[in-house]
Amino acid sequence: MADRKVTTEALREMKRSGRKIVALTAYDHLLAQVLDSAGVDILLVGDSVATVVQGLDTTVPVTMEQMVYHAEMVSRAAKRAFVVADMPFLSFQGSAQEALHNAGRLMKESRVEAIKLEGGKPVLDIVRRLTDAGIPVMGHLGLTPQSIHQFGTYKVRGRKDEDAQQILEDAVALEAAGVFAMVLEKIPAPLAATVTREVQVPTIGIGAGSECDGQVLVTYDMLGLFSRFKPRFVRRYLELATEIGKSVADYCRDVRSGEFPSQDESY
Ligand code: KIV
Repeated sequence: MADRKVTTEALREMKRSGRKIVALTAYDHLLAQVLDSAGVDILLVGDSVATVVQGLDTTVPVTMEQMVYHAEMVSRAAKRAFVVADMPFLSFQGSAQEALHNAGRLMKESRVEAIKLEGGKPVLDIVRRLTDAGIPVMGHLGLTPQSIHQFGTYKVRGRKDEDAQQILEDAVALEAAGVFAMVLEKIPAPLAATVTREVQVPTIGIGAGSECDGQVLVTYDMLGLFSRFKPRFVRRYLELATEIGKSVADYCRDVRSGEFPSQDESY
């Protein structure tokens, strides 16, 4: 694996050459370092920080200050991976000025390399304004968790013909507005395959089948640390919550029995 920093151009080249893009979420410096060293191409500072780290039910309450804080720790850790941070709910819809200000904070204060924002047609002007200003924007279509209270459900999107058509049109329009890539979340695999064929920019799927140009998962989901529920699209590579539980139980036992610390672990 080349050590060179991943760039938007490198991601486009990966799509052209058929090399799959690997993305994972990161919210802190230490884990970001591990993921970066392991060869992940994109570190996404997702607003999923709300549900997996803050213990909230939705991503709606996440603030700009929180995103700036987490994104700064992650971008400082990334030697090779391309770092993208989410624009939180209502940080970009109000006006292009507000979107520029907030995206600018993530680029300048957190030093991420791109921002991601959710939505299709209603956000096209904002995407155009940001990309015109030189800010790389990643789109996000399909299930858009920030709109959960509007939809009322986390069910698969784009099952009905008219919804699928809208997602396809949004994808083409987002590309025309200048996004360098887009996340496709929880849509039928054939629809994601069509979108992937129709746009020149990379598609990164989460619950969108194998034909996307890349895949993203929430790291705490794939490590089995977040275990409150498990969407069907998550593959757990580790059962970290169980493993940590066992280790902590061992530590409790050793402290209580006086077996820890030993002489070797003392001065
Ligand atoms: O917030 C997030 O982690 C995301 C990914 C699930 C794509 O948007």
